Amino acid sequence: MSNGSNPAQTNGHAIAPPVLKASYKIASIPGDGIGPEVISAGVEVLKALTKKLESFDLEFTEFDWSTERYLKTGRYTPEDYLQVLKGFDAIFFGSVGAPNVPDHISLWGLRLAICQPLQQYANVRPTKVLPGTKSPLANCKPGDLDWVIVRENSEGEYAGQGGRSHIGCDHEVATELSIFTRTGVRRIAEFAFNVAQNRPRRMLTYVTKSNAQRNGMVMWDEVIKEVAKDFPDVTVDHMLVDAMTVRMVLDPSSLDTILATNLHADILSDLAAALAGSIGIAPTANLDPTRKNPSMFEPIHGSAFDITGLGLANPVATFWTASEMLHWLGESEAATVLMEAVEKVCAAGILTKDLGGKAGTKEVTEAVIKVIENLRV
Ligand SMILES: NC(=O)c1ccc[n+]([C@@H]2O[C@H](COP(=O)([O-])OP(=O)(O)OC[C@H]3O[C@@H](n4cnc5c(N)ncnc54)[C@H](O)[C@@H]3O)[C@@H](O)[C@H]2O)c1
Repeated sequence: MSNGSNPAQTNGHAIAPPVLKASYKIASIPGDGIGPEVISAGVEVLKALTKKLESFDLEFTEFDWSTERYLKTGRYTPEDYLQVLKGFDAIFFGSVGAPNVPDHISLWGLRLAICQPLQQYANVRPTKVLPGTKSPLANCKPGDLDWVIVRENSEGEYAGQGGRSHIGCDHEVATELSIFTRTGVRRIAEFAFNVAQNRPRRMLTYVTKSNAQRNGMVMWDEVIKEVAKDFPDVTVDHMLVDAMTVRMVLDPSSLDTILATNLHADILSDLAAALAGSIGIAPTANLDPTRKNPSMFEPIHGSAFDITGLGLANPVATFWTASEMLHWLGESEAATVLMEAVEKVCAAGILTKDLGGKAGTKEVTEAVIKVIENLRV
């Protein structure tokens, strides 16, 4: 047979070809602040996991793309960085942002310079209260807060359109233009409905501000209603973003999958993380759902200047991020094993300070590795 993937025939019996162990190339970009601390913890845990499971390999290549590089060379990345990244299966990212460089330079110099050209238009942010941890909401029982926030990640308020004239004069003018395209809204709506459809409750709440913002936001509402017709099994409701903050606090169990614009979901997901216990546990996946480009996985949090270098950073957000990365690569069993190990460690009370515990990054990392090493596979 010309197709080498077909079983070979010997004496009329099919012999299955040898199963090749999958191997994935991961670009790791630790970045700034606590980024290197949590990414090295994440890489350690992932290496322990692949060693234990022996079912696939991860090949890491680390890049020094950071503010330190920017200050030395004037660029966060080399000029051919997109070509370089396209050679990888996924990107494992820490944080960018340093006290000595304005945040809009660092964000646009590295994180947005990756997400936008690589068309990672779907930003997915799962949130739940982990075992052994508590929500600051007094009446939030385990399971009450279990959401996935889907954030439009390529346009909207972060499209980068706008400018400043008469800089420094009294009559200086600055514009920050939000860009909403029907294509952009439709593709993120379809993505979010798919997410909702694959979750047990099949509920989607979409968030806009179409009372005050009567153009782009009204188009969002219209497009989402159109897309909803293709997903009759998903229950849909709509919230204005201001009222949504109240509902998230007062009635968390009424929500499941949440769809919002780039800016709104950015803000709501920080609130979601805090309501689930800490920003230190919250993961993000920046996905190109077409899979033409590698997707990027990072904790939601930033560089955390106040705890950099102190060994206090919570690595759980990065571990959860790593689990999301494994799901995306098709290694769902390993992803589940990793999350179960993290939850076991949390349940045992091995928690960092942000979650009310006394452990440092190292203790939590070692505890997760120990659970993985002791697994019976
Ligand atoms: N994706 C990114 O690269 C990203 C995201 C957010 C902020 N930033 C950048 O990071 C810098 C600091 O931003 P910020 O202070 O607004 O947000 P931040 O997330 O860095 O910190 C906010 C607070 O949360 C705490 N915190 C964050 N992560 C933690 C963790 N893993 N464990 C324990 N505590 C944690 C910090 O100590 C701090 O008190 C800025 O330069 C900002 O632009 C980058």
